[in-house]
Amino acid sequence: MSITVEPVKPHIGGIVRVSHDHLLDDETIETVRRELETRGVLVFPQIAVSDQLQLAFTDRLGERVNFTRQVPGSDADTADVYKITLDRKLNSEPDYVLGTFFWHIDGITIDQPLPKATVLSARKLSDSGGATEFANLYAAWDLLPEEDKREYENLRVIHCVEAAVRPVHGHPSEERRARYKAMAAVMEQPLVWTHEDGRKSLLLGTHADGIVGMPGAHGRALLARLQQWAAQPDFVYTHKWQPGDLVIWNNQGLMHRVVPYTDEGRVMHRTTIAGTEKPGVPANAANVESIYQVA
Ligand SMILES: [Fe+2]
Repeated sequence: MSITVEPVKPHIGGIVRVSHDHLLDDETIETVRRELETRGVLVFPQIAVSDQLQLAFTDRLGERVNFTRQVPGSDADTADVYKITLDRKLNSEPDYVLGTFFWHIDGITIDQPLPKATVLSARKLSDSGGATEFANLYAAWDLLPEEDKREYENLRVIHCVEAAVRPVHGHPSEERRARYKAMAAVMEQPLVWTHEDGRKSLLLGTHADGIVGMPGAHGRALLARLQQWAAQPDFVYTHKWQPGDLVIWNNQGLMHRVVPYTDEGRVMHRTTIAGTEKPGVPANAANVESIYQVA
């Protein structure tokens, strides 16, 4: 046995012990795939991978995807490794990174299968915060009261970048709105996603802007309540980074956010594994319009 996984909390988190030399072994890859379904987020403490090893690990788990290639600042020539940092020398659009202070699911406003998993490694840490929090959206669905499940089961939600960065920019300029349009889609997603394996999870995050056919305030209030429910301590793992830590999480069944930091020295390297399931569709204009109704 060259790998062990120690649970962190009943509903989320696992600490993986495996040596550098065994990171790409079949046993490791099978264990990681399985544990991503049950534990949601896995930590490899201070494993200190190179970009090359991180990409090899990513490729062993599935098809590599760079869903932020069209985002300014993503630096497409770094071979699918996206540098998450406020340092303008490394990322020309740090404003986009500020959106990560709020709960989100990676790639949910892109018209393609939802990325299966995200791999993040700590290259330089911040003195001013920068822990990452993960919330299990499978548990959030499973433990809802049955009566709520019946009420919410078939609701549809509009997700957009504009909502995701509203806490950063307030009401964006026309020029900025045009840039959002070029980098992402306005997507309609089910509130409750039934995955191909039959499991169900909620799809939530700051990018959720309203519920189709429900007056705006009602939809947003319900989404806020559900987000608060999903972020309750029992469903959340907070990772306080150490240099060289690598974390992988099931992006299809978790939302995540970073504890705010201001230090420009923090640098994380992200790679992404493509998904095969696509729960949402580009939203039609009438459904988008419906979430801006006052009553
Ligand atoms: Fe993210």
